[in-house]
Amino acid sequence: LDTNFKGNRHERRVSKIKQFEEKLAPTYSSSGEGRIVILDHPLVRHKVSIIRDKNTSVKEFRELVQEIAGLMVYEITRNLPLVKIEIETPIEKTIGYTLEGKKLAIVPVLRAGLGMVDGILQVIPNAKVGHIGLYRDPETLEPVEYYCKLPSDINERDIFILDPMLATGGSAAAAISLVKSRGARKVTLVCLIAAPEGVERVHQAHPDVDIYAAALDNYLNDHGYIVPGLGDAGDRLFGTK
Ligand code: URA
Repeated sequence: LDTNFKGNRHERRVSKIKQFEEKLAPTYSSSGEGRIVILDHPLVRHKVSIIRDKNTSVKEFRELVQEIAGLMVYEITRNLPLVKIEIETPIEKTIGYTLEGKKLAIVPVLRAGLGMVDGILQVIPNAKVGHIGLYRDPETLEPVEYYCKLPSDINERDIFILDPMLATGGSAAAAISLVKSRGARKVTLVCLIAAPEGVERVHQAHPDVDIYAAALDNYLNDHGYIVPGLGDAGDRLFGTK
């Protein structure tokens, strides 16, 4: 029975990965639909491997989550508009570029999303920060809002939702619905580790939302943990267990 169970799971896993490998190729070319972009960079892979390790300390885990989030900013801000400016170097006048000043906001989903905030603010210090708290209703198992504080001009900002572990996708999809219901128009989901199940659920609910992840893992186990994952991101960030 056990072997049979493993076999089924293995098949499920291989087919999910195949499905996503097929989907991954066009993700960098914008199609106007939600994309999944995996940060396939040696530094990111290196740091993600350390936070996966169960022996990594809370201190190191916290620092690395910030660093990875900071590295991800390069990719998530790739399309920020620039304007040309004239500058004068010590040698001659030339054309330079400056950010157009597009308004951004980051919105961590409590509590694990908090771990990514400072890493992102180091690179985009003028971003506003909202917060969303959700709990799971024990009967319906659906996410329910218990806290939501967002910048008042959210409709003028590009919103980056931070949720390190995209597992079932339930809370990420609910967080996206919440910011949209408050007026957000352009929403991006930024996570560290995504499971195929979560990517599917978010894109089903929000086909307009791009997802950025440092790694795409294999599947969810029966307890809702991402495999291989890194365990409970909140517990590992805050040293609770
Ligand atoms: N949340 C976590 O922190 N880890 C998982 O693996 C899944 C959800």
